[in-house]
Amino acid sequence: MKKTVFACDACGYETHKWMGKCPRCSGWDTIKEYKIEKEETQVHEKPLIVNDEDFIEEKIVLGMAEMDRVLGGGLVSGSSILLGGDPGIGKTTLCFEIASKMVELGHNVLYISGEESLKQLSLRKKRLNLQKPFSMLTTNRLEDILHAIRETPYNLVVIDSIQSTYNTSLPMLPGSIGQIKDVSSNLIMEMKRADMAHIFIGHVTKEGVIAGPKILEHMVDTVLYFEGDKMLPYRLLRAIKNRFGPVDEVGIFQMSKQGLISVENPSQFFVSERSNIGSGSTLFPYITGSRPIILEVQAITPKTNFSIPKRISLGYDSNRLFIIIAILEKVLGKPFFDRDVYVNVTGGMKVNETAIDLAVAASILSSYKDINIGKNTCLFGEIGLTGEVRKVVNMELRLKECGRLGINRIFCPQGVEGVDSGVAGMEIIPLKNVKELNSLAFSK
Ligand SMILES: Nc1ncnc2c1ncn2[C@@H]1O[C@H](COP(=O)(O)OP(=O)(O)OP(=O)(O)O)[C@@H](O)[C@H]1O
Ligand SMILES: [Mg+2]
Repeated sequence: MKKTVFACDACGYETHKWMGKCPRCSGWDTIKEYKIEKEETQVHEKPLIVNDEDFIEEKIVLGMAEMDRVLGGGLVSGSSILLGGDPGIGKTTLCFEIASKMVELGHNVLYISGEESLKQLSLRKKRLNLQKPFSMLTTNRLEDILHAIRETPYNLVVIDSIQSTYNTSLPMLPGSIGQIKDVSSNLIMEMKRADMAHIFIGHVTKEGVIAGPKILEHMVDTVLYFEGDKMLPYRLLRAIKNRFGPVDEVGIFQMSKQGLISVENPSQFFVSERSNIGSGSTLFPYITGSRPIILEVQAITPKTNFSIPKRISLGYDSNRLFIIIAILEKVLGKPFFDRDVYVNVTGGMKVNETAIDLAVAASILSSYKDINIGKNTCLFGEIGLTGEVRKVVNMELRLKECGRLGINRIFCPQGVEGVDSGVAGMEIIPLKNVKELNSLAFSK
């Protein structure tokens, strides 16, 4: 049976009648008529009763510590992963390393690239010093991919990228919403049926979300974002969705000429440049997933040159920054109307825990009063609107990480008395409110 559809060449908008102008992308004369063949005889799937013993979850431990951590312990066989990230951030490099590890573990891998030539791929493999060979295919046609995966059973298939892959029987351009939907649903269905794990590399838009329909994120099991400042040598791998593990784990990699190296001691990594600190800098033990990372929080509070003072925050919620400044003004009587306040969490980390409040307040006070809080001092605790310091989760884990890095003076909420930091001689100072912080840490 033949069905007629009208679809926009530019954005994939579908309609049942022809129009001169596309209502979605406003393109003129982009809507074309297409005839689609519909299969008349269909094989229907039957419902089944499944016993718990019928299937077991197989996690392949890749031996890339940070990747395994983000995946929730390893790559689940037959799972579908979407990996998004800015151009040039290292998506292909990461997938090459995963492919090589899989081959080392005795698995069969196919790398499909619709963006680079075979020569480019093989030179990249050489540069990354990956010894084990794996199959490569340079195509962006869905039909070629389906043919290849039907011929050989692979354990892992990487598609670089989902936006460059298209179904030739569809009218829309590669990368359009209709194409992405069609290509991904076809590939997921085919590979899930054959129990092949697969990674789709996805481009991100200017706004930082994976280009294409949001539905793509619903279709896959795991959504990973590879991010970081291209000027800095390290990259963060974050799980936004994971059907096989926690979503708040962060993997940290260092980008080098030879590829990505797992950073297994991130605290050391993030505070290593902090030998000569001045005022306005404090340390905070951040918990991401199951791991504590010591981060540096910096603030400066110069006299303002603007009629409305500036408040800029990088890595910390800017609304909370307004609240912290208001609390410091109210509780401590410090005027900030003539001061700009700039706060930065170094290393490009974005902290969404309220436990960082105390370190932010301390950095602002330290800069305001020009008093250095000390190199080996760390702070954590949430600040309430009346200036009280509130308890946070994982206090023991935070104290232990501080102890491990030789930090011996901790300001924290009350209730920490019974917690064992595991380090003798650590000075733990429980605070009731920010007034106490001011008097104990910043009185000359
Ligand atoms: N010859 C080289 N020497 C050192 N670093 C390199 C070299 N070639 C590439 N890189 C690093 O690898 C990064 C590119 O990685 P990769 O190609 O994996 O990114 P990508 O996310 O796949 O990009 P795209 O979106 O363009 O596909 C570069 O930004 C650079 O930091
Ligand atoms: Mg790439």
